[in-house]
Amino acid sequence: MPQNLRVKYYVEPDTAALARRAAQYLVEMVGEAAATRGRVRLAVSGGSTPKATFQMLADPSQPWRSRMPWDKLELYWVDERCVPPDHPDSNYRMTREALLEHVPINPAQVHRMEGELEPEVAAARYESVLRNSFRLEGAETPRFDLIELGMGPDGHTGSLFPHSAALHETSRLVTANYVPQQKESSRLTLTWPVINHGASVFFLIGGAEKTEILKEVLTGPYDAERLPSQLIRPSSGILTLILDKAAAAQLPPTDAEGCGVLERDR
Ligand code: 6PG
Repeated sequence: MPQNLRVKYYVEPDTAALARRAAQYLVEMVGEAAATRGRVRLAVSGGSTPKATFQMLADPSQPWRSRMPWDKLELYWVDERCVPPDHPDSNYRMTREALLEHVPINPAQVHRMEGELEPEVAAARYESVLRNSFRLEGAETPRFDLIELGMGPDGHTGSLFPHSAALHETSRLVTANYVPQQKESSRLTLTWPVINHGASVFFLIGGAEKTEILKEVLTGPYDAERLPSQLIRPSSGILTLILDKAAAAQLPPTDAEGCGVLERDR
């Protein structure tokens, strides 16, 4: 029987509060991991939701920048578009502009996917980066300390899009994925077994355009081909979501602290 998945969701009033809560969560989780493991490996996604969180983390008027142990943080990506690092659609460029240019992180601790290369070459090279960084042997899977995900209105996460080949890739760590329905159709993504092996996996999801899909993903029948975010079932048995009120509008009500819990067996 598949292990039950416990989904904990925190609902904030609006997108600014979501970004603030996400910055707080990241600082707390990275701080905890740094205290116990010394070095923290975080994989981030692209998109507008993390961008607001990165800007919050980088903002010197906010408490998060000074609390983050930047010297302990190794930064990776969940996915990337197959474009150069200075392209407007690059997830790396978004992160560089929103965060990296404003915080004291050593560039040697930033491991971007090389979107400028031929997709299969870029995927293989990033897989080598992971094998070396995590000192993997044989068929070992890297265990990221933290993995930040978003969810598209079509139920995708990372670059795991509905009905795309990457949904069926379970032996590689990183794969190229051709996504004809997207403007940037060639993508790179961590495969879902790697994401599920993360020690802490969390989604940042906001906006009314995610209400329906989030309800389907969390409370509807299992249909990962159509709803790839349903593939995300961390081996820890726990999945965390930081939401805004609009995205969470059709989820079961939260407690007085704005926290909700639901279980899924598939
Ligand atoms: C990407 C992202 C993608 C993102 C979702 C949600 O490369 O586009 O990794 O998977 O997480 O599209 O994006 P928003 O946060 O902008 O809604």
